[in-house]
Amino acid sequence: MGVFQQAIEPLQERFQELGTGSQVGVSFVAFIFLAVVLNVLKQLFFSNPNEPPMFFKKMRAKHGDVYTFVLLGKKMTVCLGTKGNDFILNGKLRDVNAEEIYTVLTTPVFGRDVVYDCPNAKLMEQKKFMKGSLTTEAFRSYVPIITEEVNNYFRTTSTYKAKSGTMNVAKAMAEVTIFTASHSLQGKEIRDQFDESLADLYHDLDMGFTAINFILHWAPLPGTRSETTPSAPRLMNATYKNGIKIPDHEIAHMMIALLMAGQHSSSSTSSWIMLRLAQNPEIMEELYQEQVRALGKDLPPLQYEDLAKLPLNQAIIKETLRLHAPIHSIMRAVKSPMPVPGSKWVIPTSHTLLSAPGLSASDPQFFPSPDAWDPHRWEKDSPNAPTIVRQEAEEDDEKIDYGYGLVSKGAGSPYLPFGAGRHRCIGEHFANVQLQTLVANVVRTFKFKNVDGGKTIVGTDYQSLFSRPLEPCNIHWERRDEA
Ligand code: HEM
Repeated sequence: MGVFQQAIEPLQERFQELGTGSQVGVSFVAFIFLAVVLNVLKQLFFSNPNEPPMFFKKMRAKHGDVYTFVLLGKKMTVCLGTKGNDFILNGKLRDVNAEEIYTVLTTPVFGRDVVYDCPNAKLMEQKKFMKGSLTTEAFRSYVPIITEEVNNYFRTTSTYKAKSGTMNVAKAMAEVTIFTASHSLQGKEIRDQFDESLADLYHDLDMGFTAINFILHWAPLPGTRSETTPSAPRLMNATYKNGIKIPDHEIAHMMIALLMAGQHSSSSTSSWIMLRLAQNPEIMEELYQEQVRALGKDLPPLQYEDLAKLPLNQAIIKETLRLHAPIHSIMRAVKSPMPVPGSKWVIPTSHTLLSAPGLSASDPQFFPSPDAWDPHRWEKDSPNAPTIVRQEAEEDDEKIDYGYGLVSKGAGSPYLPFGAGRHRCIGEHFANVQLQTLVANVVRTFKFKNVDGGKTIVGTDYQSLFSRPLEPCNIHWERRDEA
């Protein structure tokens, strides 16, 4: 007799002893239970990581801009389009809450009492403190540091010692991102604590940001524990508004947050940039020529001021973020019933809100040929130039300070890779400086093409909340001075 049969036999006997009514009841409960289990298993094991998350586009075509679906037993209400972005990202503090959703994942990484492990008002103050190391003056010193790290990486890593070869883009960009960010934001001492084996740890952390970890956060799933807590320098002389000096552990945790908050986003973006350049070698050549024209044939070491002279170099980042925004799903808990403007619906507190600004960034209503990666579209006269209709232009221009500096009040733009509202990214300028400096230096060093010489590009892995290229993602490189 099989083990399964042994286990099931007593249950069968008990079932047969029940009356018909009870049998129907038990069967019904068993059916519901089985349906839920199968649905959960289907979402866990059979979801296609190549599909856009939650089939946003397909669902939108079927149900419109606002709809609810069930994810692992939780009701998720999606609000799409520019109005949906605004509704969620500019939701009032009494209505929406980010920390309840994110804390289970970020607190083990950043540490306690910072970011989502504290009330929102405290986070707003902490964002202001963290922005202290993200000033123009600081960026001026960061460009030579980032340049040095990028060039050292491609000079000293054994893979790149030949004249040509294959680059594992995800690995290289994870490493370059942590080296450039740690050296510029936290100094050489901290940078020297990182070595290449860290890339694997970061991958594990990425996988901690999957939907299942939000919901089953108590389960021992990969990525929910981190040992990556480098010691951090002090935030000098800062005090909270209530006069309390920032405790040492909060300073350390804020420094970790500053490093970690951008790691996945920046390395995913730089990976996509490298893949797009390999897909479009002619654009890589244009980038090189742009530098020769703007900075001179001898290409002196890059300075912060040079970045503004390289519009195509800037557009590469903008266009890549349009098609490959690393944070594809932004979530909020609903704290009080929220009426959806222009409808009879009220979103109850049992639902979780989900915003996907990446969808409006690839909406043909705003971006002609939306699926084409065309950095030239950001030039005024391009046929693909965004036809961004600012529905509430005046409101958009209005600025508001949530406690960490002025930001646009509205979220009416279809292009919001850095979010909007009180949770808007504070790392936008740093990320731009980091990515533009990286691209400018890479273009000076290499020529890229696809490994097969073709024009294809890998799909997107949406398994984690950070989208990134599906692996393997390799490109062919050749040293420019050898070409
Ligand atoms: C390409 C790079 C980046 C992208 C696309 C990006 C995107 C975003 C987005 C969409 C949000 C809003 C999340 C939400 O509303 O729930 C956000 C928040 C944030 N980002 Fe970034 N980010 C990037 C790089 C960085 C960097 C380099 C740093 C730090 C130096 C950073 C620090 C933060 C912080 C502290 C928040 C605030 C979270 C909050 O207030 O809830 N980000 N980012």
